[in-house]
Amino acid sequence: MKQFDFPKEIIPGEYAITPDAPKGSHDEKFPPLSHLYPERDKYLTVDVQRYYTKEFMNREWDRIWTKTWTCAGRVSDLPTAGSWFKYDLGLESFLITRGSDNQIHAFYNICRHRGNQLVHEDFGKRNKFTCSFHGWQWDPDGKLALVTDASTFRAEALKADLDLKPVRCETWAGFIFINMDDNAAPLLEFLGDIPRIMSSYDMEKMHVVKDVVVEFDCNWKVTWEAFIESYHLQVTHAQAKPAVDDVAYQIDYFRNGHARLHTALGYPSPRCEDRDSLDPILTYMLMEAGLDPAAFQGKAMQVRAAICAAKRNPNNKYGIDYSGFSDSQITDDWNYSIFPNMTFNTHPEGVLIMRFLPHPTDPEKSYYHVHVISHQLKEGTRPPAYQGVEDNVDISGKTRPARRYNHKSKPELGEVLEQDISNIEGVQRGLRSRGFDHNKYCEQETRIMQFYAEMDRWFAR
Ligand SMILES: [Fe+2]
Repeated sequence: MKQFDFPKEIIPGEYAITPDAPKGSHDEKFPPLSHLYPERDKYLTVDVQRYYTKEFMNREWDRIWTKTWTCAGRVSDLPTAGSWFKYDLGLESFLITRGSDNQIHAFYNICRHRGNQLVHEDFGKRNKFTCSFHGWQWDPDGKLALVTDASTFRAEALKADLDLKPVRCETWAGFIFINMDDNAAPLLEFLGDIPRIMSSYDMEKMHVVKDVVVEFDCNWKVTWEAFIESYHLQVTHAQAKPAVDDVAYQIDYFRNGHARLHTALGYPSPRCEDRDSLDPILTYMLMEAGLDPAAFQGKAMQVRAAICAAKRNPNNKYGIDYSGFSDSQITDDWNYSIFPNMTFNTHPEGVLIMRFLPHPTDPEKSYYHVHVISHQLKEGTRPPAYQGVEDNVDISGKTRPARRYNHKSKPELGEVLEQDISNIEGVQRGLRSRGFDHNKYCEQETRIMQFYAEMDRWFAR
């Protein structure tokens, strides 16, 4: 591979694709990482015991997972009273319900008699939650409904609160978040700039079109790191170079560890020698936007603008009203992240969401959970390729696709994500090796530095 010199005017990650975007607009620029984290240079390298020791895993559990907000699922998975779903996070399992009061509740998923797990499936609808061990029952609002053979308990044995034990539960943009810490700041305060800056996507109106979980033999942070930098694009996704600008991108850092990375799509990388001729990916992108590639007169560097114009047409292919979006939102990838474990590849038509979840006991295993949510698209239109939705899936929102637990050998996540995950178990083995002791991060990987800086702040609390 030829050495590429970053153009002098481009500071990696701080160059703006839309340099004049005004304050308050979607594309506005936020200060550099050092503004929020003056200690940022401490994270140019990190030691590797954090990826495999029990000690570090326990510290994460005590200081982060049990203290911060994490996304449990979607409001749309609780359509009516009695609807529920299960959310597993590390050592804990939670039961999220819609009560007879029509409110959303979250509880520890345990029977208050002898601790048996109450629900084992992922989703359902019930009037009563019955423990499979002795038959105690609760209402969807968590109120105790039945103690089997109650007269055989002495009063002292049942004197404690026997309703399901609640956890804090708040919503944003159609997502349900829970928090085990009663003293944590409210969700919206924790999310900071995120709700305002992501508001145009109207995610609360989107419905689930894909739901896949894959288990990997690697620490959850190895997978997470693979998705929050664009340094790997030129090598891991070399085929995409003619259609992705992996040089002039933008990274914004927000309070509380949240961030975003903006990468222009439909635009050839400056790493390409030929930035004029149409590559098959660009041709496909034109077609996907409803344009006829044969009729396209422009050069490769004009494809992005042509896609934007086609989508701005009120009769656009997807039937989406793009008027509330910036040009960059219409054509590009805006990858948002919420600390500690959630990313969004946002587009006006839909959003690809990833969550990176720890294994209950093994620091070298983790779960990778991919959700795709979509707006209602024009009748007969299939979703854009980034959604990775198979041709036979009903995307109308009338049926919610089942959750699939796919084996890592056949993840069914599409070419790009499969390229990403092809590296991670090899990385875990290397991190474990006696021949390796610390990671080094370049200025294209600063979101990882921010992540560890934020993590240390939680550890220090
Ligand atoms: Fe990637």
